[in-house]
Amino acid sequence: MEYRNIFLEEARPCGYLYVDGFLKQLCAIFGRKIPVNLVIDFLILAHRIEKDGLIAACEKNEVVGFALMTRNPSRFFVRIVISGFFPVIAKFFKGRYRGISLSRSIQSILEFILFFRTSAGTAKNIKTGQVITMVVARNMRGKGIGANLLVKGLEYLKKYVCAVKLEVKEENLPAIGLYKKYGFVEIGRVRSRVGTSKIMVKYFKN
Ligand SMILES: CC(C)(COP(=O)(O)OP(=O)(O)OC[C@H]1O[C@@H](n2cnc3c(N)ncnc32)[C@H](O)[C@@H]1OP(=O)(O)O)[C@@H](O)C(=O)NCCC(=O)NCCS
Repeated sequence: MEYRNIFLEEARPCGYLYVDGFLKQLCAIFGRKIPVNLVIDFLILAHRIEKDGLIAACEKNEVVGFALMTRNPSRFFVRIVISGFFPVIAKFFKGRYRGISLSRSIQSILEFILFFRTSAGTAKNIKTGQVITMVVARNMRGKGIGANLLVKGLEYLKKYVCAVKLEVKEENLPAIGLYKKYGFVEIGRVRSRVGTSKIMVKYFKN
């Protein structure tokens, strides 16, 4: 297994992995039509903004898992919104996200910003990096790939911050098990339309 930064052209397979890994949550937000192109475009933007925070697990050159980390969550999301907003709206009208409701997408983005602000408020005294997301292909889980992606991501963040934060759905026991194993502790909870998430933090030792 090879662990390395994601190439831009791998945003597409990563988008499909993400959609498969978070199907239930995406259905709760968008209904039956899943916005895979929206996820791919988000990952392309993330690649432009913080390429080193996108880490892939590859087997025979095929991406079987990836993690997205940022060393400065506020700056990351502000840059996503600034550079992505108008191109995404334009793509809606060009039909790239066919079947996805524009108003529902805007509502989801606003809800996400509110969720992010509440979560950031809980950890406001700590300058943290963030694990934005990570996912491993279903047929490859339980083999240590998630753990290795997390370790690589933490190595990257450790150069810039003294703590890392993440949000994880309270019923997501595999992910919570993984984060606890690597030293994350719960510091609070945040509610959204799709459920309650734990806010977890890991402090790096000097
Ligand atoms: C969470 C996820 C990334 C874990 O990836 P993985 O490759 O299966 O994890 P690993 O094999 O590296 O397991 C590492 C540790 O995680 C924990 N873990 C993994 N699967 C678990 C499960 N089903 N139940 C409880 N703990 C589990 C264990 O502590 C494990 O260590 P151990 O094997 O020594 O017991 C994977 O389940 C996934 O992609 N889930 C869907 C997407 C998701 O929920 N992402 C996290 C969002 S915050």
